[in-house]
Amino acid sequence: MRKPIIFGNWKMNKTNAEAKAFFEGVDAHVTDKADFGVAVPFTTLGTCVDNSTKLHVAAQNMHFEANGAYTGEISAGMLNELGVKWVVLGHSERRQYFNETDKDINKKAAVAIENGMIPIVCVGETLYEFEADKTESVVRKQVSGCLSGLNADDVKNLVIAYEPVWAIGTGKSATVEIAQNTCALVRDEVRNLFGNDVAEAVRIQYGGSVKPNNIEEYMSQADIDGALIGGASLEVDSFKEIIDAIK
Ligand code: PGA
Repeated sequence: MRKPIIFGNWKMNKTNAEAKAFFEGVDAHVTDKADFGVAVPFTTLGTCVDNSTKLHVAAQNMHFEANGAYTGEISAGMLNELGVKWVVLGHSERRQYFNETDKDINKKAAVAIENGMIPIVCVGETLYEFEADKTESVVRKQVSGCLSGLNADDVKNLVIAYEPVWAIGTGKSATVEIAQNTCALVRDEVRNLFGNDVAEAVRIQYGGSVKPNNIEEYMSQADIDGALIGGASLEVDSFKEIIDAIK
């Protein structure tokens, strides 16, 4: 049985004061029905870790090198020092605006794992690819590119987030059927690469305009083990409603 995994993604939102207020409002409400967490800006990681007893804290990115001349970047060791155990990798906004490739994401995932962290690896097709019927080939290629060379036991423990780019922040969520079918295909690609045990263990999230009023429908699907939630993860009340929806 795969434990549900629900993470918010604050993106470039919240000061330290706002982050603290969020944790004060949400942390005590967290249940053991799922792994609940939030991916937060680098500047608020320390505050979030300090104010968390139950809610997991993830970084939204990291570099694959341990240190060096990479202005503006943060390493796994730096995240570890703060007590951060989760990291979102290859979010479509990183791919789109910062030119991250499957190869970069693959290196980052390996380094995160080496450092004892759990990566949440994001995949998903653009609107153009969706309309051209390329979802399957694009997503399979992303999964194999991002997970290439990783150890099967490590893949069992990581998380893959399927987020169709056309559904992110647009209010246009993928139908439950599309989300389920593509998550099943992600699992199938993991099966091809690492075998059935790994495919059955790996947790797959859907992301893209998930809200308190639609999360239950997604979660009822066989291959959807969780959600990565942007907009609806920013407010205390809406995050609490999401927690309440996971029974
Ligand atoms: P959204 O963002 O829920 O606001 O669509 C999802 C994401 O980008 O992770």
